[in-house]
Amino acid sequence: MSKVRHRVFATCNIGKEALERLTEQGYELEVYDSIDPPPKELILEQVSSGVDALVTTLRDSIDAEVFEAGKQTLRVVAQDAVGFDNIDRDTANRYRIPFTNTADVLTEATAEFAFFILGCVSRKLYPSERLVRELQWTTWHPSFPFLGDEVTGKTVAVIGTGRIGQAFIRKCTGFNMDVLCHDPVFQDHEFVESFCKLADLKFEMGFSERLLTIRYTDFEDALNNADYVSLHIPLTPETHHLIDDTALEQMRPTAFLINTSRGPIVDEQALYRALKNNKIAGAALDVFAEEPLPEDSPLRDPELEDRLRLFHHFASAGRQTRLSPDPQLGMAGRCVQGVIDVLEGHYDGDPSRMPYVVNKEAFNDS
Ligand code: GLV
Repeated sequence: MSKVRHRVFATCNIGKEALERLTEQGYELEVYDSIDPPPKELILEQVSSGVDALVTTLRDSIDAEVFEAGKQTLRVVAQDAVGFDNIDRDTANRYRIPFTNTADVLTEATAEFAFFILGCVSRKLYPSERLVRELQWTTWHPSFPFLGDEVTGKTVAVIGTGRIGQAFIRKCTGFNMDVLCHDPVFQDHEFVESFCKLADLKFEMGFSERLLTIRYTDFEDALNNADYVSLHIPLTPETHHLIDDTALEQMRPTAFLINTSRGPIVDEQALYRALKNNKIAGAALDVFAEEPLPEDSPLRDPELEDRLRLFHHFASAGRQTRLSPDPQLGMAGRCVQGVIDVLEGHYDGDPSRMPYVVNKEAFNDS
């Protein structure tokens, strides 16, 4: 039992069992237990009142105002997500407040979802089901009313080869896909070597009819030569609107765009134009510039419905991935462990050694 009665404010019920680990520590826990996010004023009020830890989600703007309000008392911000573009890293560093994320535990869930929505849009699963449900399936015919595009053996461009990009590539190997990797900041040549060894073995054992290929390449080449382009990069000033009119022009008219990373990486107006003018074949999106997707978004155009799959930022939403209290398995568990590590002074109280702290650079000299 902790001697100090630390106070924790959670902006969301991220998972009951995991949050109970905080009360078991003897912490005083207040949860904003609503489906909607709390108003910013409430977060500021809680932080100003001296909470030691904030548990946040990607819906909360944890900006300079929040860190300033907590500069004397706030000891950790624990984000229940891998992405943290809602957190002002510079200000967190200025006040030396560590923040944590839930990398790793959602890697497989996100990667498999990206692969599933790729298949979903390519093989027209949604139009097919709609046909059945709406009593429009009148007869079996070899090509009427539409055909899908096979995924097996095609080429996928993976933009971003970090944890999720690599997990996604591993899924693609099951479908004998060739891979074009693009990543301006992280090139993992050992991973490429492992892929090639697997490709050799698959060919040798008759699991593929030809030798599968993988290579790092520039952005333009990746876009030019892929049947699918899948985004696995964080949102930064450099990646904002990376997929714009020019990028979409560089894709093949038969290619599909898949986005499970962050909405603003795609210029949605440009994507709308590209789909409308058949510059690309289709897209599957799990993330949007504004979430939930506004009622008047051009992406809702019924004319695009058969070629554009839209999901509600759902990629990591596997039961275990979201809720497990085990920090090795679940986002909730990992998020809560981030709070406990800081408040209990684990790792000799050095945030730069704590595994889930993101902004380690702020503590490297401690
Ligand atoms: C989800 O988008 C996440 O960043 O975890």
